[in-house]
Amino acid sequence: MSDLRVAVLGVGMMGGFHVETLSRRVHGATVSVINDYDQAKAVAVAGSIGARTESDPLAAINADDVDAVVIASPGTAHEQQVLACLDRGIPVLCEKPLTVDPVSALEVVKAERRTGKQLVQLGFMRRFDPEYAAAKQLIDSGELGRVLLLHCVHRNMANGPHFDSAMMITDSVVHEVDVARFLLGEEIASVQVLKPTATSAAPEGVSDPMIVIFRTGSGVIVTVEIFVRAQIGYEVRTEVVGERGSTLFGLDQHGITKLSGPDGSGRWGGLVPPGFIERFAPAYQIELQHWVDAARTGGIDGPGAWDGYAAAAVCAAGVEAVRTGEVVPVTLGSIE
Ligand SMILES: NC(=O)c1ccc[n+]([C@@H]2O[C@H](COP(=O)([O-])OP(=O)(O)OC[C@H]3O[C@@H](n4cnc5c(N)ncnc54)[C@H](O)[C@@H]3O)[C@@H](O)[C@H]2O)c1
Repeated sequence: MSDLRVAVLGVGMMGGFHVETLSRRVHGATVSVINDYDQAKAVAVAGSIGARTESDPLAAINADDVDAVVIASPGTAHEQQVLACLDRGIPVLCEKPLTVDPVSALEVVKAERRTGKQLVQLGFMRRFDPEYAAAKQLIDSGELGRVLLLHCVHRNMANGPHFDSAMMITDSVVHEVDVARFLLGEEIASVQVLKPTATSAAPEGVSDPMIVIFRTGSGVIVTVEIFVRAQIGYEVRTEVVGERGSTLFGLDQHGITKLSGPDGSGRWGGLVPPGFIERFAPAYQIELQHWVDAARTGGIDGPGAWDGYAAAAVCAAGVEAVRTGEVVPVTLGSIE
C-alpha cells in the first residue's frame, strides 16, 4: 500500500512538531502539502521535508496529492477546515478544540454523521500515552474495584498575561476533561470551580491556581488542580481511587536518581520536564501512527468528533463556573 499523503494546516509549535514526527518517526505517511497563514513559515517547513506549499487551506484540503489532513491551525479556524475535510470525505486529525463553542461542535458531529463514516479524530494525545493507556486497562480490568475519585494535577512553568482564567479551562483543563471521560467511560454532568488565593505571578484578575471539580453522571468526583504559573516545570499527574485500590501515574522520573547529597543525606526523585512536548512526545508519535494506520483504510483510531463536542460542552460550563462560582450542569445535545 502506498504512503498516506498528508496536508498539515498550521505549522506553529504543534503543527511543526507533527510534521517532524510524521516525516521522521511515523511509518506509512508522507507530508505532501504544508499550509500556514504565514507563507514564509510554510515555505521553511516544507523545504525541510521536501513538501510543497499551498497558500489557501481549503485548496490544500482539496488537492489531488492529499489523502488526509492534520489541522494544527488556531482553534478559530478548525470548524471551517474540518467541515471542508468532511465535504471531501477524507480523514482528518484535528488538534483540540474541535471548534470554539459547543453549538458549532455539535454541528460538526452532525455533518460527520451525514457522511456515514467516522472521519474526524481529535488530538487528545494523552489517550495514547503509555501510562494513561495502562491506567485505562487497569480500571477496565476491575482490579481497583469501582472507581470513586480521580485526582488530576496540571501545572505549567509559566504563561503570558493573555492566558486568563477562561483559557486555563479551554486550553489546559480540556485535556483533563478528556482524560476523565476516557478513564471513567462516562460523561461529565457538572462543573464547579474554586479559586484559592492567586499566585503573585498571575496578572490582576486572573485566578491561578484553580481547583476544578467535575461530577460524572454516576457520581464519581474528579478534582483538577490547574496552575499554569507554577514556576517549576510541566507536571501532569493523575491518581485513580477505587473501592479496592488506587493507581498514581505521571510522576515522570526523567533523568537519574542521585543518592549522595552534599550534606551526606540521600535524594529521592528526578527532573521535572520543562514542557508538554518533552512529557508527551511518545504519546504524539503513537497517536499519529494510529491515525495514519487507520486513515490509510479511510477511518480513525482514537477520540472522535463526539469527544471533541463533549469536551467543548464541559469547557463552556467550566468557563461559566469560573464566572459565577456556581455548580454548572453540563447538558449534552442530541445528534438525531
Ligand atoms: N494536543 C496538545 O497537546 C496541544 C498542544 C498545543 C497546542 N495544541 C493545539 O494546536 C493548535 C495550534 O497551536 P500552536 O500552539 O501550535 O499555535 P501556534 O500559534 O504556535 O501555531 C499556529 C500556526 O497556525 C498558523 N495559522 C493561523 N491561522 C491559520 C489558518 N487559518 N490556517 C492555517 N494556518 C493558520 C499561524 O501562522 C501559526 O503558524 C491549537 O488548536 C492548539 O489548541 C494542542
